Amino acid sequence: MLKNLVKNLSSIVPLSQAVLEAELLVEFISGYKKKDFILHPDLTLNKEQQDKLDSLLEKRLDERLPVQYIIGEACFMGEMFDVNPHVLIPRPETELLVEEVIKSAKNMSSPKILDIGTGSGAIAIMLKKLTDCSVVGSDISLPALETAKANAKKLGADVEFVCSNLFEEISGKFDIIVSNPPYIPQREKENLSAEVLREPSGALFTEDADGIEFYDKIISQAMSFLEDGGCLFFELGINQSMPVKSLFENRGFSDIKIVKDLSKTDRIISAKCSYNT
Ligand SMILES: C[S@@+](CC[C@H](N)C(=O)[O-])C[C@H]1O[C@@H](n2cnc3c(N)ncnc32)[C@H](O)[C@@H]1O
Repeated sequence: MLKNLVKNLSSIVPLSQAVLEAELLVEFISGYKKKDFILHPDLTLNKEQQDKLDSLLEKRLDERLPVQYIIGEACFMGEMFDVNPHVLIPRPETELLVEEVIKSAKNMSSPKILDIGTGSGAIAIMLKKLTDCSVVGSDISLPALETAKANAKKLGADVEFVCSNLFEEISGKFDIIVSNPPYIPQREKENLSAEVLREPSGALFTEDADGIEFYDKIISQAMSFLEDGGCLFFELGINQSMPVKSLFENRGFSDIKIVKDLSKTDRIISAKCSYNT
């Protein structure tokens, strides 16, 4: 049964991914894990479970709905987050962003952190869980915020959520502002997989040609919301480190740091706000 499922799934994804997706779908339907099939080779799904699996497989193959939306969960930094088509599926690259923010937060005493474009709440919630900080997560999308609130409750993280177009409804000052903003230019739509296109377009795309409009808008207002010595952290898209670095320099930020991901792509940028420079 697993073999058949893997074969079907491998018509749309590489074999290694097909294996993982098959295991996730079967576990979702039946609670059986891979080890159960190894220990009990005769194990099969009952008729009801098999029918459900067939209908989910159809959604995956015909509608190209990402497996995380089908099972309603995605793993981020070892925790399971509820996800649905209102929120971006949190990515492994974004774990690096959280790790970098944590390094900085650990040198501060109970920092106040703002996560702009919180989506599922992945960044805000993990920062709250892993550091001694207070966190505000904001998003322009109300359904995304509902998902983030549910995740915070499920994972026991006390995060404040605010519906806001960038800084419009934000008040007060923060020691750290972090954002994984939309950064894909519209013209790149045709190069994206059918699965990515099932994610909310407001989480993915920018209106400008280079995908840097959100960085520009956030950097240009951030000084008013950062404490003296506070830091701004972003996840970056491909080829965006140099333009974003220039935006930081033009606004008088210092200590600009770029971190590469495992594939040696510039992925995270951070910079410091000093009032007297
Ligand atoms: C790339 S997703 C990041 C989601 C989540 N932080 C993560 O890393 O998985 C960008 C998020 O920004 C939100 N967003 C888009 N435009 C916004 C705006 N003008 N103000 C606030 N949030 C916005 C989207 O709704 C989406 O949740």
